[in-house]
Amino acid sequence: MEIIPFTEREIQQLRAETKGTDERIHFNNAGASLPPDVVVETVINYLNEEAVYGGYETEYKYREELDNTYALIARLISAKKDEIAIVENASTAWILAFNGIDFKNGDEVIISEMEYVTNLIGFLNAKKTHGIEIKVIPNDESGNFSLAAFEKAISPKTKLIAVTHIPSTAGGMIPIIEIGKIARNHNILYLLDACQSAGQVPLDVKEIGCDMLAVTGRKYLRAPRGTGFLYVRKEVQNKLKPIFIDGFTAQWVSEDDFKIRDDARRFELYEKNRALTLGLGKAVEYALNIGIDRIWQRVQHLAALMRRQLAEINEVAIHDIGEQKCGIVTFSVTDIDSTVIKNKLAEKQINVSVGKAISTLIYMNKNHLSSVVRASVHYYNTEEEIIVMCSALAAILN
Ligand SMILES: Cc1ncc(COP(=O)(O)O)c(C=O)c1O
Repeated sequence: MEIIPFTEREIQQLRAETKGTDERIHFNNAGASLPPDVVVETVINYLNEEAVYGGYETEYKYREELDNTYALIARLISAKKDEIAIVENASTAWILAFNGIDFKNGDEVIISEMEYVTNLIGFLNAKKTHGIEIKVIPNDESGNFSLAAFEKAISPKTKLIAVTHIPSTAGGMIPIIEIGKIARNHNILYLLDACQSAGQVPLDVKEIGCDMLAVTGRKYLRAPRGTGFLYVRKEVQNKLKPIFIDGFTAQWVSEDDFKIRDDARRFELYEKNRALTLGLGKAVEYALNIGIDRIWQRVQHLAALMRRQLAEINEVAIHDIGEQKCGIVTFSVTDIDSTVIKNKLAEKQINVSVGKAISTLIYMNKNHLSSVVRASVHYYNTEEEIIVMCSALAAILN
């Protein structure tokens, strides 16, 4: 299918719908994107209605819209509505999925070297408490995830492959569809951290073949902070132990027994932030209306331009490795701390962030990086903004 590129006019329109683009150059989309105005208004209006009409009454009024958020998320990742749980962030989603697995002593979990801190601590905790074995698949010399090494690492004890599609502190990606094929062939569970990819890259859980997928709202989906979701394939839901159970996730069978509900909302609790749920739905709808394949094409174009521009500055070393790269651009500057660069750019109204070793410890240690500057682009950024950032950086170094 042909991907229709954005026109200049459309970009201007999308920027006009995003208050924050007037104020600053925002290259911290991998931290938290600027939300579209309509997302912010949705949340504020809902909170105002709660204040005036009452929380339960407002929920009743918006019950269909709230429920529709699940359908929108399902559309985003080609899942079914009953395979989605809405939670506060990607870590909660990941923790609920991972800790729901019935690990036994000696079970093996295969991971990549790009795992996020939440996941790495989760693996270590399961090693301490259940005696699991962790097998890390190192990237090859070109920085690519090795499918051959992954397949070789699988043994009869392999219970799970848990990998991160796009890491927190590097611009590379791993081949999630090919990983899924191998996981399916060997009948092992597949947990995918898609925190940085949802809203940036098209995701189709059927094509990926994952059993569980964890996402946050505030990054490339441009949803409010404090939102996220968990996808659990229908056939796997009963295999995961629910960690939190309340009267929403379970029903009484009798005074002595209860039954867990039969959809993915078993991973939620009754009380949640309805305003943010609606805001998340609005952000997903906004992205779907634009088209994720179009977003992905533009993000790759802008990130490639940024890497080319940065490469022209002598003191800059770009760290993104691997064949396929995304909207996250990471670099360091000779003899200048990444935080100093970030602060100096902030003085010029340019937002970038600092990726610290603790976030992606195995990869950062292996590459002797204590921190990197992370400039992450989204489709609403412009080529001019990239040029302004690179000129500002060059000026700082002169
Ligand atoms: C790759 C990756 N996974 C997971 C997370 C955790 O997301 P959250 O802060 O929403 O729990 C992050 C956050 O930066 C991330 O970059």
